[in-house]
This record gives sequence, C-alpha cells and structure tokens, in this order.
Amino acid sequence: MLDKIRQTSDFLASTVSGTPEIGIITGTGLGQITEQIQESVHVPYDQIPNFLQSTTEGHHGSLVAGRIRGRSVMAMQGRFHLYEGYSAAQVTFPVRVMAMLGVKYLLIGSAAGGLHPRFEAGDLMVVTDHLNLQGHNPLRGPNLDDFGPRFPDMTQVYADDLVLLAGEKARQLGISLREGTYAAVMGPSLETPAETRFIRQIGADAVGMSTVPEATVGVHCGLRILAIVVITNKNLPDCMEKTTLDDVLAVTRHSGPLLARLWEEIIEALGP
Ligand code: HPA
Repeated sequence: MLDKIRQTSDFLASTVSGTPEIGIITGTGLGQITEQIQESVHVPYDQIPNFLQSTTEGHHGSLVAGRIRGRSVMAMQGRFHLYEGYSAAQVTFPVRVMAMLGVKYLLIGSAAGGLHPRFEAGDLMVVTDHLNLQGHNPLRGPNLDDFGPRFPDMTQVYADDLVLLAGEKARQLGISLREGTYAAVMGPSLETPAETRFIRQIGADAVGMSTVPEATVGVHCGLRILAIVVITNKNLPDCMEKTTLDDVLAVTRHSGPLLARLWEEIIEALGP
C-alpha cells in the first residue's frame, strides 16, 4: 500500500508543479469549484498509476491541480464510493496521496438527504460530526505508521475553527448554512422509512454514501478537515418522498454554484 501511495505521489509531483496545500473532493454534481482553478492541470484518473475509475454519473474522473485565489489546490473531480464495489481503503487512496504530496487541508463536498425536519432541498450543511454506519473502516488492516497512529482520536474530526470560518463566510455571502451531524451509509439503495427513522433517532441531521471514509483517513493523516454537504432531498420517515439521481442532480445544479462560491471564500481565508 505504502509503495503504491509513494508511486502515485511521485507521478503527480512530476506532473503538476508546486506542492498542493489544499485538497478538495467534490461530490455528485458538485464539481463547479474546479472551474475556478487557475493555471490548471487536468490529469484523468485513467492516466494516474494505481488510481481507480469513477463509475457514477455526475462524477467526472480527473484530478485538477492549480490555484484558487492564489492558494495551491488539488481537486478530485469525482470521487469513489463503497457502493461501487471498492474497499474503504481503495476509496480513500487519493486522500493518502494528497497527504503525501503535502496537502494540509481537506475540503469535502457531497450530496446528502436531509433528516432534520427544518432542512429543505437545496440547503447547505456544514458537518460538525459524523456517524459511520457503513460497516467498513478504511483504517482496517495493518496500520500505515508513516501516516498516523493505530487508534486515531476522533473527538474532533471537523475542525471547530473551520466550521466557524464557513459560517462567517456564508453570512458574508448571504448564503444560509445549516450545521449538523452526517451519517454515512453504504448505499447504493436509499433508506427505507424505518432506516430513516433510526438514523434520525441516533442523532443524524443528514445521510449520504460518502465523506466519512475520506474524513477518517484525513484524520489519520493529520489533515485539517472541513465538509459541507448539499441537502438534495428531504428524507423524513413519516412522509417519505421518492428520490432519483435526476432529482439529486437537479438540486446540485442550483446549489452547486453556491457551494463553489463559498469554497472560494473559505479557501482564500484559510491559514497557512
Ligand atoms: N440518502 C443517502 N444518500 C443520499 C441521499 C439520501 O437520501 N441523498 C443524496 N445522497
């Protein structure tokens, strides 16, 4: 594993210039932030040694490196999910590579169903904590001691100061930003009403099929993490509505540009 991470990191270091400081993972239909990248270099996943292929509609499948507001970024246009059949370690391989390349911040975007009764489709929610209901942990197996400890502390996965910064920048932009706990499920099937009721009752405000594996590996690698999800559908147990990928994409077409605006302001304001 370590050799592969090193090989991929060496390849990317020779393909893109400079050291990226900020890693970005875009979610379903949420690739808009990559359009803001200047002096950009696009590297399709199929040209990167050891990289997987993204199989989900709405996920492009290339790595884009360059600058946003003068800050050096590396963005994944399209991510990998457990439901595609990949292992949690495979899904999070790019996070390890980014960490090895020198990334300090990990910004994660994703689409999620809203469990909090006040949330509406189109809302943005900054993640303050998470529940891993995927039944998989990307850190399972031999510990990669070069990155972090066997039992990483998870008391603050999503940095408080970054959550505050996101709130401050959202207010300045006039974007309403919810806060809450994200539950990750394996998917790809959506939740039954009973599952939705359960996930709400154990403390989640939103539910999705990603984010948690990447954040877990991010913690292991010592990255500072901020995750913002777009609520693409309401997921209320007593009045469930059917949801399709088209519905999700329709909402991200509207809210994705808002999230991209917010990411830009946050990126500019991140500490060194
Ligand atoms: N459930 C799980 N994942 C999702 C949802 C949902 O309702 N919406 C978008 N991703």
